[in-house]
Amino acid sequence: MRTPTEAKSPIGRGRAEACANIALAKYWGKSSRGGNLTAVPSLSLTLDALRTRTEVFLEPELTSDRVVLNGEEVEGRARDRVVALLDRMRFMAASSQKARVESQNDFPTAAGLASSASGFAALAVASARAFGLALTAAQLSSQARQGSASAARSLFGGFVELDREADAAAPVATAEHWDVAMVVAVIAAGQKDVSSTGGMVQTAKTCPYYPAWLDKAPELFREVKAGVLARDFARVAEAMEESTRLMHATMMTSVPPILYLRGATVELMHEIVRRRRNGEPVAYTMDAGPNVKVFTLGSHVKKVEQMLRATEGVQHVIVCRPGPRAATLQPQGNLTAAARQEEA
Ligand code: PMV
Repeated sequence: MRTPTEAKSPIGRGRAEACANIALAKYWGKSSRGGNLTAVPSLSLTLDALRTRTEVFLEPELTSDRVVLNGEEVEGRARDRVVALLDRMRFMAASSQKARVESQNDFPTAAGLASSASGFAALAVASARAFGLALTAAQLSSQARQGSASAARSLFGGFVELDREADAAAPVATAEHWDVAMVVAVIAAGQKDVSSTGGMVQTAKTCPYYPAWLDKAPELFREVKAGVLARDFARVAEAMEESTRLMHATMMTSVPPILYLRGATVELMHEIVRRRRNGEPVAYTMDAGPNVKVFTLGSHVKKVEQMLRATEGVQHVIVCRPGPRAATLQPQGNLTAAARQEEA
């Protein structure tokens, strides 16, 4: 038994926070060039209310990397992806030091709420700091992308693009550019059956419409980008919904099918389209899960929140505004002490 004071102090540590992001123009599918590059361009909005905080400790007594997510030790493939990022940082820092990673999400993990995006973005920033590496935002974005492609976009705040086969994401417009919101309707918060990585491989291999998706996605990306820059709600709404439907159509027509949408998801799609026809600024998008994210104007958030709270099958509602870029935080004394005590 060791007391907290007897534990060796870390030789390096870094703490960071990153927000999740939701794509307005979706990516689905990896480039044949490998390296976790994407097959289509995407454009996202970083969300202030969905955050991951990660702390990386380099402790001399560690003989292998330890990864703790929301208080639970992570094993298997999820851990391997974290270790791969740490390996790249070790290589750049010419270090062989193992790390302990503690990460906390303030939203349900693996529920189609892009926890891997905020997770890998926070990990890239925190681990670079722990290893003493002064990397640029583009270099950090590239590191996050190699862990999870959508994470490349969470390095930046506001509206962010990740071009087809791009190494890093790039900012399109700041969080202040447009007073919009993404209101998330959580329909199921459990772990998803098919991971996005596995789902993309299955889609590329078996969906007869996949080539059509690769063809059309760049045009929808350009349309979303032009709409965002012009703050043209209707233009973004139409292109975002089309991007969502096309992506889900390729998923559902894969063999075996990948069907993330539930009954409540489809009911909400109908309701949102009906409301937009009646002049409300609302549009839907869904990712690798059943949750519906409603894109709306800042002035209309209350109305959307009320509508979603009154919808059968919606478990929680999370209002998200445009969020900031990923950033380092001051190390947290309490977390460190608690974690050491647990280890003793
Ligand atoms: O997080 P990834 O890179 O495994 O893929 C997620 C892809 C979608 O969320 C479905 C779409 C997107 O562009 O974020």
